Amino acid sequence: MDAGDSAEKVFAPNVEVQQSAHVKSLDEYKTLYQKSIDEPVAFWGEILQDFHLEKQPRPNKSLEFNFNCDDGPIGVKWFQGATTNVCYNVLDRIVKEKGKGDKIAFYWEGNDIGDDSKITYSELLVEVCKFANVLKDVGVKRGDRVAIYMPMIIELVVAMLACARIGAIHSIVFGGFSADSLAGRMVDGQCSVVVTADGVYRGSKLLKLKEVVDNAITLADKKGLKVHTVIAVRHLGPGAGQTPEAPAQSAKRPCYDLETTMVEGRDHWWHDKMATASDQCEPEWMDAEDPLFILYTSGSTGTPKGVVHTQIGYMLYTATTFKYSFDFHDDHVYWCTADIGWITGHSYVVYGPMANGATSVLFEGVPTYPDPGRCWQITDKYNVSILYTAPTLIRTLMKFGDEPIKKYSRQSLRVLGTVGEPINPEAWLFYYKSIGDSRCPIVDTFWQTETGGHTITSLPGATPMKPGSATLPFFGIDPVILNDDGKILKGECEGSLAFRRPWPGMMRTVYGDHERFERTYFKTFPGFYRTGDGCRRDKDGYLWVTGRIDDMFNVSGHLLSTAEIESAVVELPEVAEAAAVAYPHKVKGQCCYCFVTLVQGVTYSEEIITKIKQHVRQRIGAHAQPDYLQNSPSLPKTRSGKIMRRVLRKVAQNSRDLGDISTMADPGVVEELFKNRPKIS
Ligand code: PRX
Repeated sequence: MDAGDSAEKVFAPNVEVQQSAHVKSLDEYKTLYQKSIDEPVAFWGEILQDFHLEKQPRPNKSLEFNFNCDDGPIGVKWFQGATTNVCYNVLDRIVKEKGKGDKIAFYWEGNDIGDDSKITYSELLVEVCKFANVLKDVGVKRGDRVAIYMPMIIELVVAMLACARIGAIHSIVFGGFSADSLAGRMVDGQCSVVVTADGVYRGSKLLKLKEVVDNAITLADKKGLKVHTVIAVRHLGPGAGQTPEAPAQSAKRPCYDLETTMVEGRDHWWHDKMATASDQCEPEWMDAEDPLFILYTSGSTGTPKGVVHTQIGYMLYTATTFKYSFDFHDDHVYWCTADIGWITGHSYVVYGPMANGATSVLFEGVPTYPDPGRCWQITDKYNVSILYTAPTLIRTLMKFGDEPIKKYSRQSLRVLGTVGEPINPEAWLFYYKSIGDSRCPIVDTFWQTETGGHTITSLPGATPMKPGSATLPFFGIDPVILNDDGKILKGECEGSLAFRRPWPGMMRTVYGDHERFERTYFKTFPGFYRTGDGCRRDKDGYLWVTGRIDDMFNVSGHLLSTAEIESAVVELPEVAEAAAVAYPHKVKGQCCYCFVTLVQGVTYSEEIITKIKQHVRQRIGAHAQPDYLQNSPSLPKTRSGKIMRRVLRKVAQNSRDLGDISTMADPGVVEELFKNRPKIS
């Protein structure tokens, strides 16, 4: 069977998984789902009882919302009046109330084989309390923002939970972002404290994180932000990893000797500060709707948006989606390959799994280093039961065929998950057959930084799967498909995916810019949260997310904005104008194809191509670098001067199916564009 004819094939859930699942059939799912829609407050309130609240919500105040700009400010509030502490719930509650102090919270697997460690819930609690005291010691208070720029190490989890413990708001920036991007995020959040590490190896590549932080601080300083404290983990420096408590661990670590410059008075080593910190720290009791963290995501106008998530709703939603979407049970070992710097890592490496007292693998390296069997070596080493990853990784591994996979047993695998972009049926089948031995259900989870957790997903024991479809809504999610006029389409249809009622995990605002929140997500279709994705519903009511329908695209599961790339490119004095579009890519799903108009007198050359690519890397990060550039002395525009991206997408793909071009100011541009296409192998 090839990928083509499998697209409509239905795969039943594995019977063994089904028998012990939290939700065992589609009917059971439908009953629970209906309750979550009909009585949301009762549904979520019941689940909330398992959590520690210092104060209970006020009666009749459990849900207030407005999704319609005409009716006043957009807002969502769950469980007002309640107070809690998320750190307490994912640590103290697991240790003291659930009695799981000795359970492993994380198996840490380093970049190099043999470099590993582990930490229990009790041990993690001690580290978090200590670091919470370190933060207090350097002046961090409730409501302050703390920037975190770290590799995938246990200290990153410690840093974020320490913020949560004292009511500080963490703003994590993925370690692949450039100094410019880091600075922009630090300035937007007014973060005067930064937590980082000296460096990290990802595969054979060394990233000097502290150096990036230093550069970012210089840039931020020019914009008026004074960073008074940097705390750095010595991860690769001389003596890294050597603690009196863990001599065995230090013996296994490869010997690194990265030297790092520290600024007197401003920079501190993590281990120095921790050495004298008390391990007792009372949690700060936070209001239900106080911010928990800010996480930046691409915005269609170019500047990233600081997505704000709050306390109780986010905790409840990530905990519940984690339990049901992956059908998590206490004896499972769970592994999510996402970096904590993205929302997938926030929700499904840290908060969701820990709220369930799960044992997780935290992997620092890259899946193909030192060889393409690395994921399966790790799977066997820790007996991973649930694996959560992205289609881009699956496609990368497909290139190496079955051999590196079959070398390992993978018998522990039970459920497989995917996230980040639509999964093509060919990759789905490879995941299902070659990786999961046709035994493990695949959950295709559609969600966004903004949604906090899964919104459309199958449940392993309940939902028959169709490769490429995220299937059905999660509890509390009420999806609609709208036409361009905002009218709800019924039955089989295709249009814009929107949600018509609030769920606990949704974002509450854009940091410092509530108007942007309203405009981006609620203005186009009053009364609905607009996802920005296209979606088709089939005859069985299954949802097929078809990809972004705004000026964003998904590279290796990471959202990028065309405007952000364009504004970086046009900063170069040689460039007059730029237009970025998405282009299909075998491994990354999509990549960036950028048309550039150079200023008069500048010649298009290899040198300028390299310069543009490097500039985008420097301004945003390596993942945003255009794969293809095209010299375009003119761009196709409407008479009012708007660039016709639709036409550019077709040119990039060498398709003459241009549609209606009657509004184009100068149709002669088109031929020239086709003539100038670069050779794409
Ligand atoms: O286009 C959708 C795609 O990823 C976008 C959200 O990106 P981001 O906020 O970076 O979060 C990624 C991780 C949650 C969505 O608007 N997307 C995510 N998951 C899927 C998906 N598209 C199709 N199927 C999915 N399972």
